[in-house]
Amino acid sequence: MSPPEHTPASAGTVDAAASARSDAPGPPAEAAPSVAPRDPFGLAGKVALVTGSSQGIGRATARVLAQAGAHVVISSRKQEACAQVAAELQAEGLSAEAAACHIGRMEDIAQMAARLRARHGGLDILVNNAVLSPWRTIDATDPALFAKTVDVDLRGYWFLSVEAAKLMTARGGGSIVNISSLAALHPERMLGLYSTLKTALIGMSRAFAQEYGAAGIRVNTVLPGLIRTPLADAFDPDTQRRAIDKMPLGRLGLPEEIGYAVRYLSSPAAAFVTGASLVIDGGMSIGAL
Ligand SMILES: NC(=O)c1ccc[n+]([C@@H]2O[C@H](COP(=O)([O-])OP(=O)(O)OC[C@H]3O[C@@H](n4cnc5c(N)ncnc54)[C@H](OP(=O)(O)O)[C@@H]3O)[C@@H](O)[C@H]2O)c1
Repeated sequence: MSPPEHTPASAGTVDAAASARSDAPGPPAEAAPSVAPRDPFGLAGKVALVTGSSQGIGRATARVLAQAGAHVVISSRKQEACAQVAAELQAEGLSAEAAACHIGRMEDIAQMAARLRARHGGLDILVNNAVLSPWRTIDATDPALFAKTVDVDLRGYWFLSVEAAKLMTARGGGSIVNISSLAALHPERMLGLYSTLKTALIGMSRAFAQEYGAAGIRVNTVLPGLIRTPLADAFDPDTQRRAIDKMPLGRLGLPEEIGYAVRYLSSPAAAFVTGASLVIDGGMSIGAL
């Protein structure tokens, strides 16, 4: 079992001021942490699952979490690609394993939950990041493609989070970070369904944050702008140039710059942060708003 994010009050660390407040009206003193953690951004002893971590933002995020001390489970549809990333991290002295999971398949989600329970006794951090992003007009999005995309981009996020919440509840809490997109706020042409589901993810994070807060589970959303990954490389150079022109910082984001946000949101430093949405877009949305 991994250590809690903060030393509990029962460990005898309640400060004098908190004791003096114990008779005062208001929420119970034990609801708040009594001491600051020694390493507020550290993740030592935590087990983190990052979906879609065979490349792009997921891979960079897994590395950042491992550098912070977590054991990371590298996951995507392809076991071989995951094994390669896990080996890369291990070669850097980081703690990682590979476990394929197609998040559009309910049986894969159940198997992943069983694996985490058997090998690690639970889970502390879930980063829902894998994506299916069909490049179509709304008119050309037929019911079969609609269902397939929803199965990955919403149903997969939802039911993996439900399983994760069970594993986290048994450990006294945890962190779920859902990777949405700036497209959730400013829908992209040709990415109508993707944009719609990224908006739904913000609602999903808030609903889960509401329901699981009492179990110590925090649920937050990150909204990246244009980040240098294979997905962004699919945009033609003109589209990329136009996007960069709208960014006060004048460049694409780096995948690890999303990873750093996920690290913060998953760490004790963010112990009071839940239901939040964090835009990381080089300032692009300032102009778009
Ligand atoms: N790049 C950007 O500019 C940008 C901007 C805004 C938001 N985002 C969001 O950031 C996240 C990561 O984007 P990215 O650019 O890093 O994407 P990417 O480079 O296309 O990587 C997607 C990852 O998801 C995996 N994957 C795809 N379908 C899967 C499934 N059904 N089950 C499990 N894994 C699956 C892929 O691996 P396999 O093929 O091995 O399964 C791959 O590892 C996404 O949620 C995306 O919407 C990205």
